[in-house]
Amino acid sequence: MTTNVLEVKSLKTYFNKNKKTIRAVDGVDFAIGKGETVALVGESGCGKSMTSLSIMGLVPAPAGKIVDGEILLDGMDLVGLPEKQMYGVRGKDIAMIFQEPMTSLNPVLTIGDQLSGVIMHHLKVNKKEAMKRAADMLDIVGFADPKKTLKDYPHRLSGGMRQRVMIAMAMSCNPKLLIADEPTTALDVTIQAQVLELMKDLSRKFSTSILLITHDLGVVSELAERVIVMYAGQIVEVSDNSRLFNEPLHPYTEGLIGSVPTIDGEIRRLESIPGNVPAPGTELPGCRFAPRCRRAFGRCTQEVPEMRTFEDGRSVRCFLYDEGVEQ
Ligand SMILES: Nc1ncnc2c1ncn2[C@@H]1O[C@H](COP(=O)(O)OP(=O)(O)OP(=O)(O)O)[C@@H](O)[C@H]1O
Ligand code: SF4
Ligand SMILES: [Mg+2]
Repeated sequence: MTTNVLEVKSLKTYFNKNKKTIRAVDGVDFAIGKGETVALVGESGCGKSMTSLSIMGLVPAPAGKIVDGEILLDGMDLVGLPEKQMYGVRGKDIAMIFQEPMTSLNPVLTIGDQLSGVIMHHLKVNKKEAMKRAADMLDIVGFADPKKTLKDYPHRLSGGMRQRVMIAMAMSCNPKLLIADEPTTALDVTIQAQVLELMKDLSRKFSTSILLITHDLGVVSELAERVIVMYAGQIVEVSDNSRLFNEPLHPYTEGLIGSVPTIDGEIRRLESIPGNVPAPGTELPGCRFAPRCRRAFGRCTQEVPEMRTFEDGRSVRCFLYDEGVEQ
């Protein structure tokens, strides 16, 4: 039996904007096992980043707030943890890398100062030991001359190298969980592949669990063991990687997969999903996907589908899988 590093239970993260409530994350449940890579996918605005920022304790306040649920890291609930304690968790137990590494690196500090700063803070070692660990980490993430890179400033490095630095920084305290939010979107395709390969290697080597957030289903198929599909603040499908692509359950997943090019460049295009995601703050009486679903039927606009889990471990939120419904 695998132990779960992370368990998210009934998470609700809402925003208040112009007296309207935006349910950015609206009752999300999932778990990540030790060493497991789980992808979180879905169109823009479906709540992927807010889910990860909730886990990191970085929901933009005061407009945004976790209003309900639990986020258990090795059994410890992070919701409501005082900021001082959360500050110790962030970077040490859970590390995060973002799309644009330049925004997370300080342009006026050398790579060595930034890496060693994080290491000193979390591992309580002196500067010399931290610099040594920083050089080791740069070596691990593939820098040919780590000692030289320690003295470089961020602008001297290419986008791909900066992302390697961010990965080195994220992994330097051996976190239990690495959250990567669109980690390769800003990089060109060859470099993307190298960065993904690196993340995969490190996750294996250190048994780090990864929550990978991406629009790119090609990246998902390469890296993730399990996939969570989100739509309008809710999870609509959870599946293992191969079955998600070969036998998607939810009509939304079918649509997402339908608009993906295959690896050999052919477009295996069914059709893209018609319509748009509901505007933030929209309340629908039935299934949130109903206005765009080509398989919608009577019930779909009146009742809210619950998540249903099958014996094979997959889950789906759709009336088509209720007993007695002809598909
Ligand atoms: N600061 C904010 N104030 C109000 N609403 C917000 C704020 N940040 C996000 N939201 C809302 O929360 C919802 C989820 O946003 P989130 O950033 O999690 O989406 P996402 O899935 O990460 O999208 P993308 O793929 O574009 O990064 C959106 O409807 C968005 O409008
Ligand atoms: S519940 Fe109905 S509208 Fe929603 S995804 Fe399933 S078939 Fe489509
Ligand atoms: Mg996002």
